[in-house]
Amino acid sequence: MLVSLLCCFLFIATLKAQQQPQPAASDNTASPPSCIPHERDALLAFKHAVTSDPAGLLTSWRRDGGHGEQDCCRWRGVRCSNRTGHVHELRLRNTREEAAAMEGKISPSLLALDHLEHLDLSWNDLTGPSGRLPEFLGSLKNLSYLNLSSIPFYGGLPPQFGNLSRLQYLDLSNSNFRGDTNSTDLSWLTRLSSIQYLNLDLVNLSTVVDWHHVMNMLPSLRVLHLSDCSLASANQSLPHLNLTNLEELDASWNSFDHPMVTSWFWNITSLRYLYLHATSMYGQFPDALGDMTSLQVLDLSYNYNNDEKYRIMTTDLKNLCNLEVLNLDWALLYGDIAELFRNKLPRCSPNKLQELDLNSNQLTGMLPRWIGQLTSLVVLNLGWNNITGSLPPSIGQLTGLQTLDLSCNNLNGHVPYEIGMLSNLTDLDLHSNKLDGVITEEHLVSARSLKYIDLSYNALKIEINSDWQPPFRLDTAYFASCQMGPLFPSWLKWNVNITYLDISSAGIDDKLPQWFFDAFSNVRFMNISNN
Ligand SMILES: *[C@@H]1O[C@H](CO)[C@@H](O)[C@H](O)[C@H]1NC(C)=O
Ligand SMILES: *[C@@H]1O[C@H](CO)[C@@H](O)[C@H](O)[C@H]1NC(C)=O
Ligand SMILES: *[C@@H]1O[C@H](CO)[C@@H](O)[C@H](O)[C@H]1NC(C)=O
Ligand SMILES: *[C@@H]1O[C@H](CO)[C@@H](O)[C@H](O)[C@H]1NC(C)=O
Ligand SMILES: *[C@@H]1O[C@H](CO)[C@@H](O)[C@H](O)[C@H]1NC(C)=O
Ligand SMILES: *[C@@H]1O[C@H](CO)[C@@H](O)[C@H](O)[C@H]1NC(C)=O
Ligand SMILES: *[C@@H]1O[C@H](CO)[C@@H](O)[C@H](O)[C@H]1NC(C)=O
Ligand SMILES: *[C@@H]1O[C@H](CO)[C@@H](O)[C@H](O)[C@H]1NC(C)=O
Ligand SMILES: *[C@@H]1O[C@H](CO)[C@@H](O)[C@H](O)[C@H]1NC(C)=O
Ligand SMILES: *[C@@H]1O[C@H](CO)[C@@H](O)[C@H](O)[C@H]1NC(C)=O
Ligand SMILES: *[C@@H]1O[C@H](CO)[C@@H](O)[C@H](O)[C@H]1NC(C)=O
Ligand SMILES: *[C@@H]1O[C@H](CO)[C@@H](O)[C@H](O)[C@H]1NC(C)=O
Repeated sequence: MLVSLLCCFLFIATLKAQQQPQPAASDNTASPPSCIPHERDALLAFKHAVTSDPAGLLTSWRRDGGHGEQDCCRWRGVRCSNRTGHVHELRLRNTREEAAAMEGKISPSLLALDHLEHLDLSWNDLTGPSGRLPEFLGSLKNLSYLNLSSIPFYGGLPPQFGNLSRLQYLDLSNSNFRGDTNSTDLSWLTRLSSIQYLNLDLVNLSTVVDWHHVMNMLPSLRVLHLSDCSLASANQSLPHLNLTNLEELDASWNSFDHPMVTSWFWNITSLRYLYLHATSMYGQFPDALGDMTSLQVLDLSYNYNNDEKYRIMTTDLKNLCNLEVLNLDWALLYGDIAELFRNKLPRCSPNKLQELDLNSNQLTGMLPRWIGQLTSLVVLNLGWNNITGSLPPSIGQLTGLQTLDLSCNNLNGHVPYEIGMLSNLTDLDLHSNKLDGVITEEHLVSARSLKYIDLSYNALKIEINSDWQPPFRLDTAYFASCQMGPLFPSWLKWNVNITYLDISSAGIDDKLPQWFFDAFSNVRFMNISNN
């Protein structure tokens, strides 16, 4: 009886505890307001128009919730104002591969989210049956960020987007990996008075003749991407330049086909990043370039047209003390490389140049000794020119160097031991020169980062002790026509991850060692012929 009484008492106590009133959510001032019902309905209608969602971006979007998630402000990708509860942001970017893209269409129900400021649907396949960019998005007046990049729309850009007067970021790039977007009239852009970032990469603008004029009406612009837009020319003149805040301009992959000096953008001295890769511009580089002292990255590579006229570097870049990357690959330059280094490249202290690309030009002469003063260099790319003389020992001062490409030149003499001081070097390419002498362990003893080495087609002898264990693990080893034999070079056995190996014509007269197939089991390309 005592036991039953106790049980009874316990039962009542439990009941009482369950009846204790829970503190109401509304009493707690710190908790944010939950979502607004008609906005939740709009989001559910958006979800309804998405026919496929392999990455499950919208799985948490459910009316019944299940885990107390009928509060749409807590759904994935949804952000609400913690003051008003209105939906402010939809971040539904597909960050995975194409197979993870949502499919379907963008529901006009989004119009109910009239406080929306940030909309990112990039990399999803939400083109709908029409395939067109939805004009109605132009009515989301509060948008400051709109990202529809890499959604395969086709057809014209809707002028209704000109109503988005608060827009700061507009990204409509890369829509044509299946479709093809175009525009004949960009004048609606001039109504985007707050625009800072505009990306129209791959939108076909071939018929917009006044594009320079439109862009010049956007004085708040900081970043402008017009790569691969089929723009016909950039040689228009402007009476007055308004683009005084522009920091980044990418006009690569447009066939301008006129003299480089006639382009209109050389007066934009605020530019920090200028990409003009493959724009078919010819003739001298403009002198104004030497005054663009804010430049950090300058890419003028692959600039020539069908006439292929070689040019000498006349522009003095000496004052570009912020320059970190200078890419002049395939820029059809000729002349003396020492003169170019001495009189044209930045001579600043400290020198910030990290990457210098002069591949595939017609530069001649010898490398200057003071190259060692470019101490910030990480990438030095001078292959496919006609550089002569020897490799200066001062190269060993470039201790941050990761890539050194001097292939296909006319270098001669010995490889200096100082090259062994480049402990950060991952890629060393000296193939097809006239280098001679002997490469020993001493050349490689500090090269602990080396992954790629190509010494082929010189007159080099490689004499490395058979029991030397290198400090690096190569994935590419090209020693074609180097004298390595007569014994099989057994120091290679430590490089168990080699994928590309060429030791053809290396004077080896030996049996394949027992470790050969184990050590090189990952190889994808191998040439051991002519031994
Ligand atoms: C709202 O959130 C922001 C940042 O998320 C915070 O700085 C702000 O104090 C919050 N305001 C209120 C009223 O909770
Ligand atoms: C836009 O947002 C502001 C606050 O950021 C708000 O006061 C205004 O009502 C919103 N406009 C519309 C059309 O919803
Ligand atoms: C838009 O989205 C793409 C891809 O998701 C991203 O790379 C890009 O930086 C975004 N644009 C802006 C302005 O944030
Ligand atoms: C370009 O866009 C317009 C709509 O702005 C469209 O009428 C036209 O057919 C498009 N042209 C091409 C070549 O796609
Ligand atoms: C939006 O822009 C279009 C075309 O640019 C215009 O005809 C329309 O009246 C604008 N709508 C609103 C609500 O301002
Ligand atoms: C761009 O549009 C023009 C005119 O419609 C067309 O001739 C051209 O082929 C298009 N360019 C590309 C790269 O599709
Ligand atoms: C920009 O410059 C042009 C002259 O090229 C001028 O007509 C226009 O009013 C200016 N626009 C702005 C927004 O400053
Ligand atoms: C650009 O600069 C040159 C000389 O430095 C000057 O003659 C020209 O008027 C300027 N152009 C603009 C649009 O400011
Ligand atoms: C601009 O360049 C184009 C070639 O792209 C040429 O046909 C045109 O005559 C040039 N215009 C001026 C004003 O130099
Ligand atoms: C390279 O330079 C040497 C001597 O400076 C010259 O004899 C040779 O013809 C040049 N080779 C090429 C391909 O220009
Ligand atoms: C070499 O690389 C290491 C690690 O990446 C870095 O900390 C070091 O600063 C580099 N050395 C030079 C001289 O840049
Ligand atoms: C070989 O490569 C694999 C993957 O690329 C890596 O996980 C492994 O650590 C490497 N082995 C050596 C000895 O470097």
